[in-house]
Amino acid sequence: MHKIEADVVIIGGGIAGLSAALGLPDRRVAVVTKASFGKGGSTPIAQGGIACAMGKDDSPELHAADTLVAGDGLSVSECVTLLTKEGPEQIRRLIEAGANFDRTEDGELSFGREAAHCRRRILHANGDSTGAEVERALVAAVRRNAAIQIIEDCYVADLVMADGQVAGVRGIFNATGERIEVQAPAVVLACGGIGRIYRYTTNPVESVGDGLAIAARCGAVLSDVEFVQFHPTALNTSLDPLPLLTEALRGEGAVLLANGRRFMPDLHKDAELAPRDVVARGIWAQQQKRLDVFLDARTIGERFPQKFPTVFAFCQQAGLDPRTDMLPISPAAHYHMGGVSVDANGRTNVPGLWACGEVSATGVHGANRLASNSLLEGLVFGARVSLDISRSIAPGSRPVCPDVEMKPRPTFITPDEAPLAQRLRDTMWNDVGLVRNAQSMTHALQVFDEISAQTPQSIMLCHMIDAARIITQAALARKESRGGHYRSDYPEHDPHSQHHPFVYTGNGPWC
Ligand code: FUM
Repeated sequence: MHKIEADVVIIGGGIAGLSAALGLPDRRVAVVTKASFGKGGSTPIAQGGIACAMGKDDSPELHAADTLVAGDGLSVSECVTLLTKEGPEQIRRLIEAGANFDRTEDGELSFGREAAHCRRRILHANGDSTGAEVERALVAAVRRNAAIQIIEDCYVADLVMADGQVAGVRGIFNATGERIEVQAPAVVLACGGIGRIYRYTTNPVESVGDGLAIAARCGAVLSDVEFVQFHPTALNTSLDPLPLLTEALRGEGAVLLANGRRFMPDLHKDAELAPRDVVARGIWAQQQKRLDVFLDARTIGERFPQKFPTVFAFCQQAGLDPRTDMLPISPAAHYHMGGVSVDANGRTNVPGLWACGEVSATGVHGANRLASNSLLEGLVFGARVSLDISRSIAPGSRPVCPDVEMKPRPTFITPDEAPLAQRLRDTMWNDVGLVRNAQSMTHALQVFDEISAQTPQSIMLCHMIDAARIITQAALARKESRGGHYRSDYPEHDPHSQHHPFVYTGNGPWC
């Protein structure tokens, strides 16, 4: 096995991981990505923008208030305050690093409005290509820094542990099968979300819950992992992931139709601009009646191609013209509010382990994330993690790593395993999806045991099984409905609801 040393290893090359990397200019940082560097992951495909209180009529306090309302009573207000206060400074740094956001004719930053935001505060780049621009700028900045080593196309299987401390990571290169150990006293999980464990998702192939599985295996406490956000409007095609039809379309007047009739005004005063979970369940209910649901965005008309170039290209690929055609849609797993439990500096309970971005649970998003807060969270808390590491780990400190043999294994799902992965994704969708209950989730856990019993080999499928079990067990334990977690057997809020820390003990041998 190839062994190298670093001061800090960061798993993940999206906005959170690169924000952390750029905050450690005087350390030897290794960034490990399972796709090619700058490709893959959720950041480059993020259409929606970055929410930030920088407008003249706005303030961090107003942004925090909107975030807390969306969080449905479970946000950690200290972290929400940090997010909204530190956001503007981090955005200015991102602009200095080269990110170009859309501007008005006078050259001022242009702020868009989205549902549940009381002010125009959403920055976009090239209309609906915000994430691609942010990733481009961050990747360029990282490449200018010779102290950051990129280890790409490498799949992390596990952390290296020494005397209860994190001491590095072990991974396998996708193309060659070569094994690598990166030894370091600090590891940052920034490896994104879990959407891919659901049959329908807007998330890329990389988002399978690696971070949950890796952290759980070394005893990290997880928190609120039952809260999964389903985006209401993904384009219902045979593509996987399903292309996102950004919420901004509904902000521009697009409406939802089933049987030629709008149904959202019957369900919520804000109709199509109601909270995401309400809209997504409204669509799901129509689908349960075997009705196809469409987004009618024709009122946007000739402005469509310029205002929403990414969505327009997806529609064209599907043979649709959104200026004249109605768009078939489905809800899809989109974002994970819960994750690896961290404090305001991104520290987990395991010495040497930090987490930031979607994989982490800072508590910022509570039970339901406010649109366009996720890129900001990655940026702000990635920077906070780097500060904390700078303060707490002396430069050049070296862990003593135990000699452990790592068995060769496939990284991505093999053709033989594909039916198992599909069964897992179908089960999560049907049994632990937009509407769940004790019976469906107990069934799901049995299915995961059956899949495990087939002893899958790929790192990816093993991570998926763990992530699926973790989310299902946690969802079974939360006996209420709140935010993204809706139980048909407990449809009401529990007035005494709290955060649910969760320690995974597994269910059968780790694969
Ligand atoms: O609908 C959207 O543009 C998604 C934005 C987000 O998830 O923040």
